[in-house]
Amino acid sequence: MTGTLSPAPLASFGEFLRHLRRRAHLTQRELGAAVGYSEAHIARLESNQRMPDPAVVRAQFVEALHLQDEPETAAQLIRLAEAAREMRHAPKANLLRGGPPTNLRTQLTSFVGRAGEIAEVKKRLGETRLLTLTGPGGVGKTRLAVQAASEVLSAFPGGVWVVPLASAQEGAQVANAVAAAIGMPSESPVTVEALCDRLRDDRATLIVLDTCEHLISACATLAVRLAQMCPNVSVLATSREPLNVPGEVTWQVPPMRCEEAMQLFVERARAVRPEFALDKADEALLIQICQQLDGLPLAIELAAARLRVLSLEQIAARLDDRFSLLTGGNRLAPPKQQTLRTMMDWSYDLLSEVERVLLRRLSIFTADWTLELAEAVCAWEPEQDDARQPGSSVHLRREDVLDTLTHLVNKSLVIVDERGTQPRYSLSNTIRQYAHEKLIEAGEFDQVYRRYLEYLPFMTQRDEPRPAQKRPRKRKSPTRAPSQVA
Ligand SMILES: Nc1ncnc2c1ncn2[C@@H]1O[C@H](COP(=O)(O)OP(=O)(O)O)[C@@H](O)[C@H]1O
Ligand SMILES: [Mg+2]
Repeated sequence: MTGTLSPAPLASFGEFLRHLRRRAHLTQRELGAAVGYSEAHIARLESNQRMPDPAVVRAQFVEALHLQDEPETAAQLIRLAEAAREMRHAPKANLLRGGPPTNLRTQLTSFVGRAGEIAEVKKRLGETRLLTLTGPGGVGKTRLAVQAASEVLSAFPGGVWVVPLASAQEGAQVANAVAAAIGMPSESPVTVEALCDRLRDDRATLIVLDTCEHLISACATLAVRLAQMCPNVSVLATSREPLNVPGEVTWQVPPMRCEEAMQLFVERARAVRPEFALDKADEALLIQICQQLDGLPLAIELAAARLRVLSLEQIAARLDDRFSLLTGGNRLAPPKQQTLRTMMDWSYDLLSEVERVLLRRLSIFTADWTLELAEAVCAWEPEQDDARQPGSSVHLRREDVLDTLTHLVNKSLVIVDERGTQPRYSLSNTIRQYAHEKLIEAGEFDQVYRRYLEYLPFMTQRDEPRPAQKRPRKRKSPTRAPSQVA
């Protein structure tokens, strides 16, 4: 197990091989010549059309790809080759053992905690045929869905199929991705109708549509058709926002609890520093790190991987520049899931222009806020707009704030707390820091900050900035939220 290379649940041998070959500046023909395979053989390995032979990978590929000095990377490649072989036999093997067919793979990193969450998901899967796990990027939706799916396998004799959609670019690819996962012979493109015909009479089957947010309407259409036309099919979706269709039950994946986050950190830390142990003083520091990282498993894994070169103190000290610190993630994951910044960029890029405007302006609040405050501080009349960039056509009006804020809540970017007399909203540390950078980049900080100060007298105790707050110095690429500048 490694920290920087902890594999994505569904990353393949072929993808990793291609990555390593390109990194070594080899063509498929050159790599083939070095290992005694044809160019076509390498091409088929890279597209996962041919099974790798782990013994040959160990004996030939490690050297040909110049991995002699990178034992972790070499071990990872060999493990993936072994996993690919196992997988080929998995559906059959599972059938032979009397279990349902599935494309669930053995996970290469440990699963930590989440007993309560798994129980919640299982319970809901027993009650609905369309369940969507929502939550911000990196909170653990995919991992939880895959884990829960593996624990309910016996309830789905027709099969449990995970459909990874993160790399799909168009809605039209969703049905094809499902067809590929369930092993349906297909001429492309597959229609939703053909898919429903194929699944209509199957015994109870679970389809896990993983990562729906960028193809939300295609996923919504498919999920509804499956639910309507295939009485034995259940869909478990993961998405930053609900599919928003009739019959859907949504469940928000919470951040990890502090003890679980700490356990995850320690397990991933040991992968890069096997001797890593926590003493009492470290424990307090680690609690602080986990809280600062909002209990976000992705951020915690990336932070733990930094122990390779930094101490715990150094990691804690650098968290207010977390986007530079938390890079170097899983090379097997799609690029948008590899670092904290690319993960945030992915969410931000999926927003409409007006949602981006509101999100970045909301970063001015250091504590939580109400709808009225957001309207007062973040929106104004066009003639008052000295922040508008030349060429920008977007103006956020006061009457747009409610809808836009609702969208940001739906998209798991704004947290809402409805326990009091009126809802209060907030941003996680990571999202606030990211949005704050965007606010400065957009040249809007001064105007929003002026309005924020104007409304300070009307804020309740909870809205007020912390006493140590000072206005941030203007910097070219600032990375600190106002509350974090001492
Ligand atoms: N309970 C868990 N135990 C171990 N690792 C986890 C757990 N939850 C999430 N992770 C890891 O954290 C990272 C982000 O999780 P992921 O499920 O991909 O998040 P999301 O799908 O919400 O973006 C992944 O590397 C995943 O393996
Ligand atoms: Mg995911």
